Amino acid sequence: SNRRILIAGNWKMNGLLADSVALGRDLAARWAAGPRPDRDLLICPPFPLIAPVAAALAKSEIEIGAQDCHPAPSGAHTGDVAAPLLADLGCGAVILGHSERRADHGESDALVKAKAEAALSAGLTAIVCVGETLAEREAGHTLDVTLGQLRGSLPDGANPATVVIAYEPVWAIGTGRVATPAQAQEVHAALRAELIELLGESAAAATRILYGGSMKPDNAADLLALPDVDGGLIGGASLKAADFWAIACAG
Ligand code: G3H
Repeated sequence: SNRRILIAGNWKMNGLLADSVALGRDLAARWAAGPRPDRDLLICPPFPLIAPVAAALAKSEIEIGAQDCHPAPSGAHTGDVAAPLLADLGCGAVILGHSERRADHGESDALVKAKAEAALSAGLTAIVCVGETLAEREAGHTLDVTLGQLRGSLPDGANPATVVIAYEPVWAIGTGRVATPAQAQEVHAALRAELIELLGESAAAATRILYGGSMKPDNAADLLALPDVDGGLIGGASLKAADFWAIACAG
């Protein structure tokens, strides 16, 4: 396809200052040494680590991003972080509607959509996550759930330059149980077909859809080769520079 692969690391709630800066420096050194994949690379640390990790990555073209933002651009929202601040810190993207946030914080599709619109207003790319639980899959509801989340969470004004979709089956996250290529391709193709309805044919064809859920160096090439898989959202394996780099270069 003409879609440029994006490999994004989601560090989740992991790391302290020194080891996180060291991880950023390790990645920047790998980027400097090459060979470099002809792909977009993104690292999303916890909020307080964005500035120091951005500094560690500064001599590379590995981008920095965040894991959430508030729907409002500023105001009385104790503990939350606004999208304009993320942009000011150098972030290019923000992950929104991750299943852990949907579960831990009860985030609805409407809230995810509002956050994504705030991200776009701040000039950030919104990485909008969808995915079914094991119970939903076993009940035959995978496509109902994921397409419903897509319809409900996609921001107004979405276009291929500003929105990336991430399909993350909840049962594959942090479990070592990766989706099979057939399972991933089925959902990715259905998501793209839904994007045709929502955004039109050419925008749907240009929108990147990432796979996330136990993507590792040994399974990344098969997933990234699928026609509708345009990258990966990497959790556990993004915490080791060698593994993240191997995925970034896989295939
Ligand atoms: O955002 C990343 C995903 O939740 C995947 O996490 O690679 O640890 O399974 P994982």
